[in-house]
Amino acid sequence: MSQKLANKVAIVTGAASGFGTGIATKFVQEGCKVLIADLNAEGGQKVADELGCSFAVADVTNLEHWKALLEKAGAEFGGLDIVVNNAGVTYVNKPTETVTEKDFDLVMNVNVKSIYMSATACLPYFLENQRPGVFIQIGSTAATRPRPGLTWYNASKAAVMNATKTMAVEYGPHQIRFNCVAPVVGSTGMTHLFLGKPDTEENRAGFVSTVPLGRASTPADVANACSYLASDEARFITGVNLEVDGGRCV
Ligand SMILES: NC(=O)c1ccc[n+]([C@@H]2O[C@H](COP(=O)([O-])OP(=O)(O)OC[C@H]3O[C@@H](n4cnc5c(N)ncnc54)[C@H](O)[C@@H]3O)[C@@H](O)[C@H]2O)c1
Repeated sequence: MSQKLANKVAIVTGAASGFGTGIATKFVQEGCKVLIADLNAEGGQKVADELGCSFAVADVTNLEHWKALLEKAGAEFGGLDIVVNNAGVTYVNKPTETVTEKDFDLVMNVNVKSIYMSATACLPYFLENQRPGVFIQIGSTAATRPRPGLTWYNASKAAVMNATKTMAVEYGPHQIRFNCVAPVVGSTGMTHLFLGKPDTEENRAGFVSTVPLGRASTPADVANACSYLASDEARFITGVNLEVDGGRCV
C-alpha cells in the first residue's frame, strides 16, 4: 500500500456520503489524517468511525465553522495541509424559468460561497506558516459541458473552476496550489436531482450514453484523482480542471 499522503492533514467536506466518503477513504488509505466536515451529523460520524478519522458538524457556508475546523485540525493533528471542498448541492432538474430564488441561492451558497469561505479561513494560516497548502475543489463536467435544466448548478460549477484558476495564479508564488476535479455523472445522493427522476441504471442511461468509456463515475475514480493532486507528486500542478469523466468533455 502506498503512503502518498503520509504526514499530511486534510479537511474533506461533504464526506458523510457519495464522492466525499470515497475521498476520505482513499486519503486515510494513503496515510493522511482526515477531518470530515459535514452538515449531516449522523452520517458524518458513522463514516469517521468506520475510517478511524475525525469528524465535525459544519456548514461550509459559515466562516465561523471554517475557523473552528482549522482550529480542530491544529489541535488534533498539529496543522493543515489539504482542503478538499467537496460538499455541494443541486436543485431538481427543471426548466430554468421555474427555478426559484431559493434554488439559486442554495447552489450559489453551498457550491461557490463555500470556496470563498474556505479560502478566507485557511489562506491566512498557510501564508503565515509558509505552508505549501493544497486546495482541491470538486467541480463538475457541468462547468464546461452543461446539460439542460440545471442552468444555475452548471453556472455555480463554472464559478468554482474560474475562482480556482484565479487563486492558482495569485497564490502560486507562495507554493499554495489550487486545482479542480470535475466528475461526470456518478451515482450518489444527488444524482436523482440531476436526472429529475429516480437514480436507476435505466434513468442514467441517457447521461452515460455521452461518456466514451461507457459508464458513470465512481467515488473511487474521483478519490484517485484527488489523492494524486493532493500529493507531492503533483507539486508542479496548479490551476487545472482535471476531468474524471471517461472522455465526456473531449
Ligand atoms: N453525483 C454526481 O453525479 C456529481 C457529478 C459531478 C460533480 N458532483 C459534485 O460532487 C460533490 C459531492 O456530491 P455527491 O455527488 O457525493 O453528493 P451527496 O449528496 O452524496 O454528498 C454531498 C454531501 O455534502 C453535504 N453537504 C451539503 N450541504 C452542505 C453544507 N452546507 N455544509 C456541509 N456539508 C454539506 C451533504 O450532507 C452530503 O454529505 C458535489 O460538489 C457535487 O456537485 C457530483
